Amino acid sequence: MSKHSEHSPEQGSENSFTPETEIHPDRRVAGAAAARALNLHKSYGQGDTTVTALDHVNVEFEANHFTAIMGPSGSGKSTLMHCMAGLDSATSGSAFIGDTDLSQLRDKEMTALRRDRLGFIFQSFNLVPTLTAAENITLPTDIAGRKVDQEWFDQITGRLGLSDRLRHRPAELSGGQQQRVACARALVSRPDIIFGDEPTGNLDSNSSKEVLDILRTAVDQDNQTVVIVTHDARAASYADRVIFLADGRIVNELFAPQIDEILATMAGIEDVAL
Ligand SMILES: Nc1ncnc2c1ncn2[C@@H]1O[C@H](COP(=O)(O)OP(=O)(O)OP(=O)(O)O)[C@@H](O)[C@H]1O
Ligand SMILES: [Mg+2]
Repeated sequence: MSKHSEHSPEQGSENSFTPETEIHPDRRVAGAAAARALNLHKSYGQGDTTVTALDHVNVEFEANHFTAIMGPSGSGKSTLMHCMAGLDSATSGSAFIGDTDLSQLRDKEMTALRRDRLGFIFQSFNLVPTLTAAENITLPTDIAGRKVDQEWFDQITGRLGLSDRLRHRPAELSGGQQQRVACARALVSRPDIIFGDEPTGNLDSNSSKEVLDILRTAVDQDNQTVVIVTHDARAASYADRVIFLADGRIVNELFAPQIDEILATMAGIEDVAL
């Protein structure tokens, strides 16, 4: 069941947007924030060669909701995800998971938080080449010393069409199969928050639908929070909210997004960028 219907009444001026330097009232969430960025700034290099990947981003990601992040290539989507998930550190500003300021954590605490509460689907999969698909999927759970929920493992891998590929190593799998292994790895431990960087980027429409249905169910039935980056309007339409980035800033957002609205908003952003 979708949560879309919950949004409209309480969001007031739905889908109107004014960029500001502080968290815009519409980007303050009604419920608890599962994660939030406060003045998050990330730049690479120095002097003339400085690249600003994130330009003082302020945003909250509501718990038990599905958010999609869209924007042109190079707009800072992966950087935002990596900073939110503690995989990269910001130049200034803060990323919070719940009430925890990631910049205050020691390495060990960060590792524990990532292991216990977060699942991450990487844009480049990040599978361990020497392990089989099954071993890759259960690796984070195994490292944490936890028991794999075999029934859930079977269900996820079955739905993702991986059941007969589980004994293969990544090099013996197609790109789409590797991506599905990466999705299964993030899903199998039922983390509080799942971050997916283009989790359906290499998938055909059937596999893509399966991944998105699983992510939607994770939010609607299992109380998880999902944040994905996507270039695909159909994938983004599964979300409760879409945030649009351009040049490291949030420039627009939509609630309960329809595919045509998403496409129109993206077209507007790309026109300005050209
Ligand atoms: N390690 C790095 N060193 C220098 N610049 C970087 C580095 N990583 C990212 N950038 C730059 O930061 C900007 C944002 O990159 P990012 O990977 O977040 O973009 P993106 O929105 O995810 O793009 P895509 O849709 O192509 O994946 C880009 O201009 C990129 O070139
Ligand atoms: Mg990216």
